[in-house]
Amino acid sequence: MKPLITEKNIRRRIRRLAIEIVNEMGRGEETAVIALLDGSFMFLADLIRELYQLDFPLTVNFIGVSSYQGNTRSSGRLSWYRRPPLSAAERRVLLVDDILDTGLTLNGVQQHLLRQNPTVLKTCVLLKKSKTRSFDNRVDFTGFTIPDVFVAGYGLDMNGRYRELPYIAAMTES
Ligand code: IMP
Ligand code: MG
Repeated sequence: MKPLITEKNIRRRIRRLAIEIVNEMGRGEETAVIALLDGSFMFLADLIRELYQLDFPLTVNFIGVSSYQGNTRSSGRLSWYRRPPLSAAERRVLLVDDILDTGLTLNGVQQHLLRQNPTVLKTCVLLKKSKTRSFDNRVDFTGFTIPDVFVAGYGLDMNGRYRELPYIAAMTES
């Protein structure tokens, strides 16, 4: 499988991304990092370790939400399998996701968290597909903008497979 983004480039970009986050959010108060399962786990693991190197105080929580039903096209519906374990009220929140495709998932989660009145809500995605979206997503930090193709690896799956790849590969639908 041919890498679209190499391991080395991912590492380099995440280091920069962490610096961007600290510069914009500041080190002051603790930030509640909320990661969207499942695809963001590897990105999250690397990102928080870079943030640690920069002395950025944080806690980590997970949300399980899906707009996919096991195929490569969005079902257009949001289903929760793990609701946010903490309230975003009065907290500085950094929402972390693997990839922005239609934007439906992230939009739903952002609306949900905003209703709880966080002090700050920032959103960070590793990948963003270059396409027009019907949902207006506020994304503050983006790792890479990629072509509108289905990708897997580095936590992202295709029907449950390829999450373990240390790089990101473009898949061809068959
Ligand atoms: P959206 O709601 O269409 O933006 O899709 C969001 C979720 O679908 C992401 O968080 C991913 O888990 C999954 N997804 C979207 N595109 C891809 C892809 O190219 N590869 C793997 N997962 C994807
Ligand atoms: Mg996801």
